[in-house]
Formats: sequence, C-alpha cells, structure tokens
Amino acid sequence: MTPQPNREDKFTFGLWTVGWPARDPFGDATRADVDVVESVHRLAELGAYGVTFHDDDVIPFGSDATARENRIKRFRAALEETGLVVPMVTTNLFTHPVFKEGGLTANDREVRRFALRKVMRNMDLAAELGAQTYVLWGGREGTEVDTAKDLIAALDRYAEAIDTLAQYSVDRGYGLRFALEPKPNEPRGDIFLPTVGHAIAFISRLQHADLVGINPEVGHEQMANLNYTHGIAQALWLGKLFHIDLNGQHGPKFDQDLVFGHGDLIQAFSTVDLLENGGPQGGRTYDGPRHFDYKPHRTEDMDGVWRSAAANMRTYLLLKERAAAFRADPEVQEALAAARVPELRTPTLAEGETYQDLLADPTALEDFDAAAVAQRGAGVARVDQLMIEHLLGAR
Ligand code: GCO
Ligand code: MN
Ligand code: MN
Repeated sequence: MTPQPNREDKFTFGLWTVGWPARDPFGDATRADVDVVESVHRLAELGAYGVTFHDDDVIPFGSDATARENRIKRFRAALEETGLVVPMVTTNLFTHPVFKEGGLTANDREVRRFALRKVMRNMDLAAELGAQTYVLWGGREGTEVDTAKDLIAALDRYAEAIDTLAQYSVDRGYGLRFALEPKPNEPRGDIFLPTVGHAIAFISRLQHADLVGINPEVGHEQMANLNYTHGIAQALWLGKLFHIDLNGQHGPKFDQDLVFGHGDLIQAFSTVDLLENGGPQGGRTYDGPRHFDYKPHRTEDMDGVWRSAAANMRTYLLLKERAAAFRADPEVQEALAAARVPELRTPTLAEGETYQDLLADPTALEDFDAAAVAQRGAGVARVDQLMIEHLLGAR
C-alpha cells in the first residue's frame, strides 16, 4: 500500500513546477499554461500543505495595478477555499531579458536597482500571505566571460543587496528569513554561490547573517558532483537549513529537476533518513516544509503532471517508511553498533580532560598499537547491504 500524503507531512510545491509548460532550449511548450487557481486546488486534493511562487507565477511581468490586484485576489481566494498555506515566496530575476546580464549583481546599476525593487514589492506580498521564508536563487547572477565582470565587486553588490533586503524586512516587521539557493551553472555558464559551501561562507560576511540561511536543491549539488546529504548535514550543523528543494538528478549534467528520488535513490534515502531520523535523539532535524522543486517530464499531458506531483510525495513517504524500518531493525542496530557508529557521539576528550591529560595518556600514543587497530574491519559492508535491502523493501 502506498502511503497517502496529508497536511501534517508539510509537502509544498512551487507553482512553477506543475505549471511548467515544458518549453526547453530546443523546443516549444508541449502543454498549455496552467491556471494557478487550478494548481492550488489540484495540489490540495493530492494532500499538499502549501504552495510557493515567484512574483511572475501569480502576477505576469508588467501587469498594471488593477490586473495585479485581480490576480492576487483570485489566488488568495483559492488559498482560502483549500486551506493551503504559502510558507515561502521568491522572485523571478531571470526570465525577462532585462536580467540577461544579472539581477542583483548586474554590471548595469539601473538593473540592480530595479531588481531590488522587484524583490521588495514581492516581499510585501509574501508578508501579507504569511510567508516565513524568502528564497533568493540567483540564476542570472554569474558569467560566461569572467573578464567581463569584476568578480569581487559582484560579491560586494550581492552582499549589499541581501543586507538591504534583510533590513527592509526588519524595518517593516515582516519577520522573513532569507534562504540562498546555490546552483553551479544553468542558465549562466557559471553562477555565483555555486554550492552549499560557497553560500554558507558568503553568509558569514553579511551584516544580517542571522537572518540568512540556505535552500539547497538536491539536483544542484549533484550537478556539481557533490553529496547532497552531506551538504544539508553541514547546513543543519550550522543552523542554516532554512528551506529545502527536493527533486532528482542523474549526476553531473544539465539540471534535470526530476521527481524526488527518481535520480540517485540511495542518496535520497540518506537524505530522508537524515531529515526524519538524524536528530540527537533520533528525531526530525528539520521541521520546515518538504518542498518539491521539480519539472514534470516534457512528454506528459496534464494527467502525467498530476501523477508526477503525487509521485514526489509518495516517494518521500515510502523512503520515510523504509528509513524508519531500517532504524527499527535490531539487526541494523547491531550492525551499526559493530561499526561503532554510536561511538562517534562520544567526545574524543573525556569530560574535563585537557590536551595536557591527553599528552600524559600513554594509551593514546606511546602504547597505542596502530598496526593492531588497523586490523579492525569497520563493518560498513554489512550496514550497506542492510540499507539496500530495506530500501528495496526486502526486509
Ligand atoms: C532551478 C531553480 C529554480 C529555483 C526557483 C526559486 O532549478 O532552476 O531551482 O527552480 O528554485 O526559481 O527561486
Ligand atoms: Mn533545479
Ligand atoms: Mn530550486
């Protein structure tokens, strides 16, 4: 029996995901535009908890004030009818040609000022709709030609922009937290803040560093051949996992935005296991929305779109079930103990022990038998296969 998603699971979707008409760099749209009101209703029926959006997903670029109000009114009504919430909002600083050379880091100062205003206007709407998180994905912030950009000044402008936006949220009492979304490339040849690590290091230099965290996407780290689970573990360790973009990817190639788990399934298992069971007492490490940022295959009609939306949630819940079974299996617990996994929680120095005490301890060096200890197997192979068997539902 496939588990059924419900509101408590906190599954959210970008309106741009199910709404993607499947235009790609080589081909025209294969599906018609989807009305956001329909998306809200369909996602609610499927068991989602909320939706997220770019300004332009709800209010087409260039709408006048009346059109803008009408769009927002319809959208709000759909939210009220369904009870779906909007925990996260973001800005489109990439589609319109005005952003071709960048948004917040464009060489052209007029473009940067417009980009800031576009974000601020949408922050007003985000706050009105009760969002807690504001995502900044800098798809156009980057280069194809490094010598045509002052790379250090670009980082100064990026920091200036984020600090300005954070100050705006503070002054208005919006209470928003900002989540930077790393991506190595696409659409730009190389994008600034390409990975979780780059983004976290950048945040440490911001004036409002406390209000800024990250929104790591599975496929983006994997495009850089990095381990996504390690990335979010480090973000959790730093208290910087403010939001999450779940999807699937088959290694370093173009951004596939597949359904969650439909890429590196083993890594998806460790991701869900970390999110659901990785806390200090074996509980949840992240309580925010489980947000899907995927693209339904270009081959599909609308039936395939809604099936794929459901597939994200079902796959997540199946992995959650498998991860729980893995953790509860006495043989797994024994294998983990044999592999000394729980021992890593014991600090290397005993309580109150100093490095002087360590220096005075001959068992740590003088009497330590490196050759003998090196003989111990680490017991990883057993854990590995038990994990695979749980993942396959064979145990
Ligand atoms: C991508 C990006 C985007 C962003 C979105 C939010 O895959 O191209 O992940 O989908 O998440 O624009 O700002
Ligand atoms: Mn992506
Ligand atoms: Mn994303």
